[in-house]
Amino acid sequence: MVTTALMRRLGTAVPVVQAPMGGGPTTPELVAAVTAAGGLGSVAGGYLTPDVLRDGIAAVRGLTDGPFAVNVFAPLEPDASDEEVEAAIEVLAPYRLELGLEPRPVLGDPAARFEDHLEVLVETAPPVVSFTFGLLPPDAVRALHEAGCLLLGTATSVEEAVALERADIDVVCVQGSEAGAHRGTFLTEPALANVGLVALVPAVVDAVDVAVVAAGGIMDGRGVAAVLALGAQAAQLGTAFLRCPEAGTSATHRAALTAAGPEATVLTSALTGRAARTIDNRLTRELGDRPVPAYPVMNALTSELRRVAAAQGRDDLMSLWAGQGVARGTELAAGALVRRLAEETDQAIGKLRAW
Ligand SMILES: Cc1cc2nc3c(=O)[nH]c(=O)nc-3n(C[C@H](O)[C@H](O)[C@H](O)COP(=O)(O)O)c2cc1C
Repeated sequence: MVTTALMRRLGTAVPVVQAPMGGGPTTPELVAAVTAAGGLGSVAGGYLTPDVLRDGIAAVRGLTDGPFAVNVFAPLEPDASDEEVEAAIEVLAPYRLELGLEPRPVLGDPAARFEDHLEVLVETAPPVVSFTFGLLPPDAVRALHEAGCLLLGTATSVEEAVALERADIDVVCVQGSEAGAHRGTFLTEPALANVGLVALVPAVVDAVDVAVVAAGGIMDGRGVAAVLALGAQAAQLGTAFLRCPEAGTSATHRAALTAAGPEATVLTSALTGRAARTIDNRLTRELGDRPVPAYPVMNALTSELRRVAAAQGRDDLMSLWAGQGVARGTELAAGALVRRLAEETDQAIGKLRAW
């Protein structure tokens, strides 16, 4: 099997990272199965309360001794005017009524603050801390390094990768525009931050000295081999793991993933106020390009609607996060999928030599 310097540093046998997938798909069983098979599992902490995050980390440690990552969101300031919020509530009301909900959303508990997640991370010291949506405060970087954590930040452009390296981040995860769910964009104009992985990985590899991980549309070992050839030291896959039996993906989401064709996904900011890739449905089409409050405010305004739609089997009114490779997904168990990815990667590299 191919080995990279990053894999030696992480102690993984396979150049595959299971992407953190917030909102339910990532379970301790999924993370542990990936790690036990030689990959790097990732806990999705962004939406969890500090206590649930602490318990999730303990659950993974109860299932495996291997290395894993814990993912959080960089600090975000909610920024939306009352008028924007009221306009969004009005647009969403008919969909809520259709599902039998009150017209106005019931907002859940406020999102966990980065500072609270940081406390849990320093206390539990996972081998890797990954993050998206921005940079970490310098004192957080210092504290996590002192706790022994390797830091992996998400970039959707060369400029963001350089900013992460300057902020003393150890590994850059390059997220191509093929990637499922939210874009991690934080510096670059969002409309310009949609470069595909084949163009973006070598550009970032040439611009930074730190190790690069590539994410977006990778579903099999051919994709893993391709990003290694481009200079990445591992591949991060999200959508490929969504249909694993260990994943907490809802039944409605699973059915939509299974039915999706190769051109099923769109990038839209309408569902949550931040560009994200989802399977095209009635909600994405009807909300269209209308301006909505910025993430995380719009995310909070639509989250009950999307959750209840999923529970009612209404795939027309929920988010169906998926990357562009969705049609090539499988229902293999996570460990078997990691082993298959390893074999396919070797085969793909061997095939190139034989050509
Ligand atoms: C359902 C879903 C949820 C996601 N949630 C997170 C998250 O909480 N944090 C994060 O850094 N990335 C998240 N991502 C993005 C992944 O880290 C990664 O960039 C993406 O899955 C790669 O593209 P792929 O889905 O085509 O493999 C999510 C992706 C999916 C599909």
